[in-house]
Amino acid sequence: MKPNGMIQYGTMKRKLEDNNPFRYGCVVEDSFYCPRPLLEKQLAGFIRSGQNVVIHGERRMGKTSLVNAVVRGMRGWRMLYVDMLHVQTVGDVCRRIVSSVRNMERKASLFEKALKLLPRLRPVMKVDPSTGEFGFGLDARAAEDPYAVEEVLDMLSKVASGGHMVVVFDEFQDICHLSDAQTVLALMRGRIQFQGDIPYVFTGSVRSKMVDLFDNPDSAFYKSALTLCVGEIDRDSFAKFLRGRFESGHRRVSDETVRAIMDAVADVPGDVQQLCEAAWGVTAVSVGTEDIEAALQVVSMREGDKFESFCERLSPVQFKLLMGIARIGGREIQSRTFLDEAGIANAASARKAAIRLCELRYVYSFRGEYRFSSMFFRAWLLRRRDF
Ligand SMILES: Nc1ncnc2c1ncn2[C@@H]1O[C@H](COP(=O)(O)OP(=O)(O)O)[C@@H](O)[C@H]1O
Ligand SMILES: [Mg+2]
Repeated sequence: MKPNGMIQYGTMKRKLEDNNPFRYGCVVEDSFYCPRPLLEKQLAGFIRSGQNVVIHGERRMGKTSLVNAVVRGMRGWRMLYVDMLHVQTVGDVCRRIVSSVRNMERKASLFEKALKLLPRLRPVMKVDPSTGEFGFGLDARAAEDPYAVEEVLDMLSKVASGGHMVVVFDEFQDICHLSDAQTVLALMRGRIQFQGDIPYVFTGSVRSKMVDLFDNPDSAFYKSALTLCVGEIDRDSFAKFLRGRFESGHRRVSDETVRAIMDAVADVPGDVQQLCEAAWGVTAVSVGTEDIEAALQVVSMREGDKFESFCERLSPVQFKLLMGIARIGGREIQSRTFLDEAGIANAASARKAAIRLCELRYVYSFRGEYRFSSMFFRAWLLRRRDF
């Protein structure tokens, strides 16, 4: 039975890969990851020399995948990965860090040892008897004390001792949501600056907030880390990678088509993979430029409800501005031509609406231009005849 099972498993795995040569909305690894040698070398160099690093880049540009690939490729290094997305209180921060230690330490005894280093938080270790998986609980009140974060970071430095460990705080800008953010940041910085043997990597998708955290003299983290920017993947390497993925999924594709797909979504890696997956799905033997429209429609249909609800949140002026940026482009939204074409009364209204669209993260400002965070959203808006 067993050998058979193993063979079947192998076949199933191969089939699954055959079935879907593209991945999006998750961290990509192995054959789904297109190497980025320059960035990887830089980041690995910073980590090896014990530098703290801040990584800027819009969502879906590949920050998390890059960090993951780099640390996985560094022999003898371990990664403590803490996702800070939507943290709301200091208790959340503490729990996320402790739970990352649990994910990293495979042995219950090692995790238990780490918990013992948190006396103020009165941790309890829990083991699920049916699965053998271990978890933990922290004293809720104690965890909400900003000083708890010091104890947790001290614990990290003990966990790291004797080996190489890098701590990754992903989507770090969300720490600004804490009501006592300034205190917590100051306490964290106080600890981190004395942990010279642990490189910390802070990634963030909201540039303005990350700049505020690391480049503002009033911030506790001012100039505490080197900067790395993750933008689009080098075009030639990404195009070659994508052609290879199509081939592995049994589709012929030309370089021209792959580049047209990349153009359609402004080279954002996550969107490129999503559109490739849809293009792969609507074809059987080969993929041509004429299939891109159908692929965009597939994505629009899948995401339509979400986009619909995005629009419902907007005031009439905000919606006009959004449509204007989709149709005309986001370069000169205060010019008379733009305002007239978009049907907005004056520049002040456009400015105000732009602030809201940025807050909602429908668009972002880049070198004086407003750009869509999702080109699929733009395509969907343009396709709707009733707008
Ligand atoms: N190096 C890469 N090679 C191939 N696809 C990538 C790469 N980096 C990112 N992607 C695509 O982008 C998506 C989002 O990547 P992720 O690392 O989560 O981005 P971020 O952390 O910047 O939001 C992935 O699911 C994948 O589709
Ligand atoms: Mg990420």
